[in-house]
Amino acid sequence: MTIRVVQWTTGGVARSAVRAVLAHPGLELVGCYAWSAEKAGKDVGELCGLSPLGVTATHDIGEIVGLRPDVVLYMPLLWNVDDMVRLLENGINVISTANFITGRSYGDVDMERLHDAARRGGVSLYGTGISPGQTGALALTAAAACREVERISIWEAADCTLYESAETWGSLGFGLPPDTPGLADRARQRQQVFQDSVEVIAAALGVELDEVRYTPEFGVATKDLGLGWLDVRKGTVCGLNGIWEGIVGGRTLIELGLRWRLGNSMEPDWPIEEGHVIQIVGSPGIRIRHEIDYPSDFSDLGSMTANPAVNAIPAVVAAAPGLVTIGQMPLITAGSVKIG
Ligand SMILES: NC(=O)c1ccc[n+]([C@@H]2O[C@H](COP(=O)([O-])OP(=O)(O)OC[C@H]3O[C@@H](n4cnc5c(N)ncnc54)[C@H](OP(=O)(O)O)[C@@H]3O)[C@@H](O)[C@H]2O)c1
Repeated sequence: MTIRVVQWTTGGVARSAVRAVLAHPGLELVGCYAWSAEKAGKDVGELCGLSPLGVTATHDIGEIVGLRPDVVLYMPLLWNVDDMVRLLENGINVISTANFITGRSYGDVDMERLHDAARRGGVSLYGTGISPGQTGALALTAAAACREVERISIWEAADCTLYESAETWGSLGFGLPPDTPGLADRARQRQQVFQDSVEVIAAALGVELDEVRYTPEFGVATKDLGLGWLDVRKGTVCGLNGIWEGIVGGRTLIELGLRWRLGNSMEPDWPIEEGHVIQIVGSPGIRIRHEIDYPSDFSDLGSMTANPAVNAIPAVVAAAPGLVTIGQMPLITAGSVKIG
C-alpha cells in the first residue's frame, strides 16, 4: 500500500520534499498545489528542477481535494488557515513546515479551528522541519540518557546568505533601521512558532511551564549588502539573535537560541558556528553538535527542513485524529535506504 501524497507549493523546501517523496518506497506523488497561478498546468518535476514526472500542478484547491490524497505536504511561505481546514475536514492529513508546531502561534481561534477540523476529518495535523522540529526531537531523544534533566538548550547558528527568501527576512525586520518602532514585536511574531516548540519540548518532559520569554538582539550592516536577491542598506538590520526561554519554578528549563545573519559585514560581528548545538544540563550532562553536509552545489538546501516532514508521513497517517507533536510520535528515521 503506498501513501498518496500532494505537494503544496514548489518553493525551496518543497523542491527538496518532492525529491524525498520520489525516493521513498512507501510514497506516491499524486498532485501539487501551486500558489503562483502561472505555475498551474506545468509539470511538477519541471517546476522543481527535475525531469518531468507526469504530475501536473493546479492552482485549484478543489482539484486537490478531489484527488483524495492521504496527505498534503504543506510548505507555503505564508499559511492560510482556511485552506488547511478545508484539507483536514475532507479527510486529508496535513504535515506543515510553515511555522506550525501546535498552531498556537497562529492565534487561539485558528488553532482551535485546525484541531477541530482534524478531529472532524478523522486525520492528523503535524508540524516539523529542522528547527523547529527535528532539533527538538533530537534533544528529547538525547535526554533519554539522563536520570534527571535541569535544562535543555538548543543553539542554532546560521549564515543565511544563501537562503533566498526576501519575504522571510523582510518579515523578520531585516533591511529596517534597528530603531524602527515595533521591530522586536515583529521579530517575535515571526518567530512565535518557537514558543510552541518550547512548550512541546516541556510537555514531552511532563512539565507545564509558568512562562515563555523572548529576548531579541539585532545585528546591523556596516556596509551596503547587495546579496543579489535582497539589498540590505548600511545601518539596517542584517542579523537577529532571538532567545526563547521556557521558565518553571523561577528558572529556565528550555532555551532555544536562534542566531541568523546575512552577509559578512555586521556589528556585533557574531561568530557563526553553522548548525545546532544541543546542550543538556542534567545527570549526566550531554552535548551534541549537529551539522549538515550539503552537496557542494547547494542544490538541495531545503532538504533538512523537508526530509523530517516527508519521513514522518507514515507515522502521521497512522496517528490518532487531531494534532500530533513530537512527544506522541514513534521513532522517525530515513524512509529510503541505499543498498549496494
Ligand atoms: N521548520 C523549519 O525548520 C523551517 C525551515 C525553513 C523554512 N521553513 C518554512 O517552510 C516554508 C517554506 O519555506 P521556503 O524556503 O520553501 O519558502 P519560499 O521558497 O520563499 O516560498 C515557498 C512557496 O510559497 C509560495 N508563496 C510565495 N509567496 C507566497 C505568499 N505571499 N503566500 C503564500 N504562499 C506564497 C510559493 O509557492 P509556488 O511555488 O507554488 O508559487 C513559493 O514557492 C515557509 O513557511 C518557511 O518559513 C521552516
